[in-house]
Amino acid sequence: MDDLIFSLRAVRFSYLKKYPALGGLDMDIARGQKIAILGANGSGKSTLLQLLDGLIFPDTGSVEAFGRRLDEAALNNADFSRRFRSKVGLVFQNPDIQLFCPTVKEDILFGPLQLGLDKAKMNKRVDEVITSLGIGDLLERSPHQLSVGEKRKVSIATVLAIDPDVLLLDEPTAGLDPQTSRHIMDIIIEANVKGKTVITATHDLHIVEEIASLAYILSRERKIAKSGPVEELLKDVELLQANNLRHIHKHRHKDMEHIHPHQHTEHHL
Ligand SMILES: Nc1ncnc2c1ncn2[C@@H]1O[C@H](COP(=O)(O)OP(=O)(O)OP(=O)(O)O)[C@@H](O)[C@H]1O
Ligand SMILES: [Mg+2]
Repeated sequence: MDDLIFSLRAVRFSYLKKYPALGGLDMDIARGQKIAILGANGSGKSTLLQLLDGLIFPDTGSVEAFGRRLDEAALNNADFSRRFRSKVGLVFQNPDIQLFCPTVKEDILFGPLQLGLDKAKMNKRVDEVITSLGIGDLLERSPHQLSVGEKRKVSIATVLAIDPDVLLLDEPTAGLDPQTSRHIMDIIIEANVKGKTVITATHDLHIVEEIASLAYILSRERKIAKSGPVEELLKDVELLQANNLRHIHKHRHKDMEHIHPHQHTEHHL
């Protein structure tokens, strides 16, 4: 299938060969899909995104990207690697991993320069991204001196500056104020409308319906518990609870204290 971007078969991965992180995943991701990866802490979401970004490779099983096996040999090929890196961009969960240049501006220009993108196009793109994210006043600052939310916005900018076809976003709204969070969601939605494939890892069920039409829920065993249309999965209360995506609240009403499950899609009053 031409439109298949990623194809995973029986993918297992463990860190240092002893800490299991992915317990056998099968996935097919097509061009233009809007996907959420859901799961409790430690269920393998970040690991999966790093695997899709070709930063780590399965212990067993296979990953194909754009019809080619994504392994160390493929990424050691300079031509494939450059094409892959210009097509796929990952926003890390931890911005401190993403940002390593002395200034914000250098961090944003790093990717496009490395990939040798057309200068005029690059400058236009970078200006648009900086304006869109409202980070113009941060450009000369050191990334390490920024607030958590500012760092997150700069991280997102470094990837948008490359204008990849596939966006891999690891908890992109974590630590952002409501307005900025809304803005990031709009960027995700718009990117997808323009035809980009967007894969977002999150446990914030509030945002899932907007930023994804399909979801994969990773289980505690770090396998796919279920995948399917977002609205169907979000209705499956037992599934969400079994996978730690629904929590139990203690409430006090007058003199009565009671406990009931609460879904992240329901807003607190
Ligand atoms: N660098 C590492 N070294 C060893 N084990 C790791 C490392 N990174 C992750 N793990 C382990 O791999 C498993 C999956 O972690 P991962 O970070 O992919 O989960 P996650 O779903 O992204 O969690 P979170 O919601 O907390 O971000 C966890 O058990 C974790 O302890
Ligand atoms: Mg994570």
